[in-house]
This record gives sequence, C-alpha cells and structure tokens, in this order.
Amino acid sequence: MSQRSCLSVILAAGEGTRMKSAMPKVLHAIAGLPMVAHVVKAAEAAGATGLALVIGHGTEEMRKAAQKFAPKAETFVQEKRLGTAHAVLAAREAISKGYDDILVMFGDTPLIDAGALATARQKLADGAAVAVIGFRPPSPTGYGRLIEKGSQLVAIREEKDCSEEEKKIGFCNAGMMAVAGKHALRLLDKVGNKNAKGEFYLTDIVEIAGAEGLDVVATEASFENALGINNRAELAEAEAIWQARRRREAMLAGVTLIAPETVYFSHDTEIGADTIVEPNVWFGPGVKIASGAKIHAFSHIEGATIASNCDVGPFARLRPGADLKQKAKVGNFCEVKQATIEEGAKVNHLTYIGDARVGAAANIGAGTITCNYDGYSKFFTDIGEGAFVGSNSSLVAPVTIGKGGYIASGSVITESVPDDALAFGRARQKTIPGKGKELRERFASAAAARKKAAE
Ligand code: UD1
Ligand code: CA
Repeated sequence: MSQRSCLSVILAAGEGTRMKSAMPKVLHAIAGLPMVAHVVKAAEAAGATGLALVIGHGTEEMRKAAQKFAPKAETFVQEKRLGTAHAVLAAREAISKGYDDILVMFGDTPLIDAGALATARQKLADGAAVAVIGFRPPSPTGYGRLIEKGSQLVAIREEKDCSEEEKKIGFCNAGMMAVAGKHALRLLDKVGNKNAKGEFYLTDIVEIAGAEGLDVVATEASFENALGINNRAELAEAEAIWQARRRREAMLAGVTLIAPETVYFSHDTEIGADTIVEPNVWFGPGVKIASGAKIHAFSHIEGATIASNCDVGPFARLRPGADLKQKAKVGNFCEVKQATIEEGAKVNHLTYIGDARVGAAANIGAGTITCNYDGYSKFFTDIGEGAFVGSNSSLVAPVTIGKGGYIASGSVITESVPDDALAFGRARQKTIPGKGKELRERFASAAAARKKAAE
C-alpha cells in the first residue's frame, strides 16, 4: 500500500455556529492542537502525501493557522456551502493531479485514527473504487445509514431521506471515505442535489459507483473515530477521550501515573520510562521528559526539557525554555523560565529563576529572585558551578556569580561576584544590649497612659 500515492481532502468549510465562537470551529484545540491539525496528523500517519484543506469560514485565520500545523497543505475555498460533494470538488485541482487514493475527511472529527484510514485505503489497494468508514453509534439518529447487500455497500441514506425501515439500521456513516483517484472526479461530477436538504451529498457516490458496476465496500471503526464536534461540550468530551488514550499509552510505555485521570498531556508531550507523575500535573506544549524523573503533585509545565532523574515540584511552574539537566531539583513554589539548571543543581523553595544559568551542583536558597526585567528589557544571570546563594537574595541582572561564589542571605546583588568570593549585599547587623527591654517598658507605660486618658 505504501507505494500508492494518497491525497487527503479535509472538509472544514462549516461555520460551526454552535461553538458560539469568533474563531473557526476546527481551530478549537484538543490537547493544545487545533482539531483540524489532529485530522492532518492522522491523514499523514495513514500515508497521505498530499493535503487539501477546504475552507469557507474565517479563511484568513484558517490559512494562517494551516501554515503552522500543515505547511504543505493546499487550501481551497468553498464559496457556498452546497454539501459535502460540492466541498470535495472545491479541491478539484488537487484531485486531478492523479493520486492513487483520495481520503475524504472532516476537519471536525479529530479522533479519527490512522488505523481506520489505513484499513479503508487497503480496500482500494484490493480493488474497491470506494471504501466508506462505518461505525455503530449508541443511537443512530442524525447519521447517514449504510445499506449493504452481501459484501457490497449499495447506498448511504441520510436520516432525512430514510424510510422507517431504513432508520432502524444501526450501521452508520462516519463521514469519511477512501475513493480511488482514477474514479473520484467522474463520480463526484455525477452527484446531484435532489434530496431532502437540496445539497450535493458526497454519500451519493456510493450508488453512482454501484451503478457503474464498481466495487463499493464499508469498513467498521470504533465510535470515537466518528465523534464530530459541534459545541464545546462535545469538544470537552473529545478532549477527555484523547487524554484517556494518551495516559494509557504513557503507562503502557513505562510511565507511572498515580492518578492518571488528573494528569493532562499536550499533543506533543514526550515522557520517558520510569518517570513518575504524581496527581494533578499539567503538561502544556513542548515538554520533553527523560526517564526516571519525578514530577510531584500540582506542577504546571510547558516548553520545558527535563533530563533523567530530575525532581520537580510539588507546586513547581516550569515555563518555556526551562532546561533541567540530570538530577536537577526544582522544588515547591519555584518558577523557572528560559533558564538552564545544570546537573545536580538545586532550586528548592519559593524562587524565581528567569533568563539564567544555574551551574552544576549550585544551591539556590529559599526566596531567591533573579531580577531579570527592568520594565523594558530582559537581562541574564549567570550562576557558576557550585555557587551558594543564601536565602532571600535578589540577583539584579545582568550579573554573574562566579564558580563557588557565596552570597550572604538577604543580599541584593548588583555587581558580579568573582569565583570563590563571599558577597554581602545587605546592611550590617547592629545589636544593642538591654535595648529590647527598655523599649518594651516604654511602650507599655505609653499604652497605660492613653488608656487612663480615655476613661
Ligand atoms: C455527514 C454525512 C453523514 C454522516 C455524518 C457523520 C454527508 C452527506 N453526510 O452528515 O452520512 O453520518 O456526516 O458525522 O456527507 N462541509 C463543508 N462544506 C459543505 C458541507 C459540509 O465543508 O458544503 C463539511 C462540514 O464543515 C463538516 C463536514 O463537511 O466538517 C460534514 O458536514 P455536515 O454538514 O456536518 O454533515 P452531516 O450532516 O453531519
Ligand atoms: Ca456533522
């Protein structure tokens, strides 16, 4: 099959009014990725080499987004929404390039998996002209029914055009199908619009191909594959299914999730075996975690790279550009942004490290802040290997702490500190014997005098 060329035509011209959104429906995200991008990924995984995106609503926004998630895709505008066959024909120019297989997919059906598409493509390789992906929903209402005779699919009847008898059929059209490229345009051009909705139905090519004596079949996929998203409740439902799949995949690949239902992955999260993720952890886009790391509860992590055997959290926030090398530790209530924490370095409590490097085995005391921003620009803080930064210090960037440098706690460091030096950046302590007692007596008698005056 891999030798057969394949064009995926993705229909995404619908308005999606039920999303009640200024953004085109198919750009709403699942696991941080627009749902139409999930469809593109599935098409590519099923071997599609060409991509045609049919858009009609929010075309500029769609084009811009497509450049990001599918830079190779050609976009075609369907000016008027006259039905699914009409939408596919908007991509006529791409279809006429002579692909072996045409995969028609919907941009709002994000859980379609590559396996279901590959099964349909295999039917074309075996000689079918059309292979329709079917499924058995809990309730068939609203879906096109698949009418079979033996191994042949003879028709797809839209709900509104079904007889009472046909409405009882439970095997339904998931919407997507594979069509042999050499027949596709001829079949599509024969589709008319004499039906209950007055639309050009893609599904009519089943009967048209049958009338030509061509082989037309249905394959069966699971319900999830056909889950179309029309509103935000369904979007959340699809998100839940996606997350459940991903968690299971992670666990089967050797990741321990103590309470899997509370861990949220992004579409691109990479996580190594023997890493343990405690409850209530969120992974935003761009996270890579090696093996043997511990991610403690309530951590929020995005755009971060975490090497093996690191320890993160609880309640850690790793923002884009956080790069933790082996055995680094970032503990509770710490935020790290655009900073490298070298091997074995410790940032354990209540700290902000931004635009910085923390050298290997350095220790950053509680409450340390890299003051990286003056309201206009960001500046870098470089902390050398083995340095010790005492608690509650402010490191005003740009500043360098040399290797083995020692910062007295409570310091405000504005000048660079050489290797192995000790720096104090705070007022000297003054201790006055007996002065505490004297103050207490003075305040007590003043309070007593005020009380008496008020009587
Ligand atoms: C379609 C199928 C139906 C199937 C169901 C599964 C047809 C005629 N019917 O019905 O058999 O059970 O999907 O969910 O194909 N679109 C365009 N331009 C158009 C019309 C549609 O781009 O002119 C896009 C929509 O944005 C959507 C997809 O095509 O992504 C499906 O269209 P929709 O109107 O939702 O079809 P259904 O009535 O759900
Ligand atoms: Ca639909």
